[in-house]
Amino acid sequence: MRNIQIAIDGPAGAGKSTVAKKLADLLGFVYIDTGAMYRAITYKALRQGISLDNAEALTNTAKDTAIQFVRTKQGRQLIFCDGREVTEEIRSPDVSENVSKIAQFSSVREVLVRKQQELASNQNVVMDGRDIGTVVLPQAECKIYLTASLEERTARRYHELLLKGYTEEYAKIRENLAQRDEMDKNREAGPLKIAEDAVIIDSTDLTQEEVLQKILGLLGQRRGES
Ligand code: DC
Repeated sequence: MRNIQIAIDGPAGAGKSTVAKKLADLLGFVYIDTGAMYRAITYKALRQGISLDNAEALTNTAKDTAIQFVRTKQGRQLIFCDGREVTEEIRSPDVSENVSKIAQFSSVREVLVRKQQELASNQNVVMDGRDIGTVVLPQAECKIYLTASLEERTARRYHELLLKGYTEEYAKIRENLAQRDEMDKNREAGPLKIAEDAVIIDSTDLTQEEVLQKILGLLGQRRGES
């Protein structure tokens, strides 16, 4: 029997990773955060002083970097880059401001898309990102496009960063999210767009639990139909 793939796409800060992680836990699936993969390459490039305009060097970095997801007993998802834990570092404002530059290169995307497809080839997965339902897993049985207003996404990011000890200005976070939306939607390779067979969920006025229940309801419906 083919393994099950659930794709969750949407703009930055829509709450994809929290919901995807919870869904994976409930279903006993593996959660794959593809944004973390683009972030890990960005982090490594910044550390190594690789120019963010150099597509060839960045593509080689993507090829040569081992990215691993490790689930702790406490349910935290850790990200390792070449054996080094970088879970928090890859969420820094510095990485957030630069990641969309790297994600626009089709050669970098090809390398990461292949790695993502491999990860989803032999296990049940919940995968989140921008191009999962359209490019990475076009055969996924369930595709969700999770979105929320820019104001709501900014407020969520602001509080998330405060809790982690970063004091970013609200206006700066808003600008970064808007810029990333723009770059993610308008790039040629794997742009953020709604797959034809995706179900759109707007989480602006929903709690995380409500979003989760909607997705579970949808999965139940799909199973009933098949
Ligand atoms: O989900 P996130 O905010 O952690 O993603 C970080 C960036 O990575 C985002 O601005 C765009 C890029 N990305 C992408 O281009 N394709 C994906 N499948 C996932 C993320």
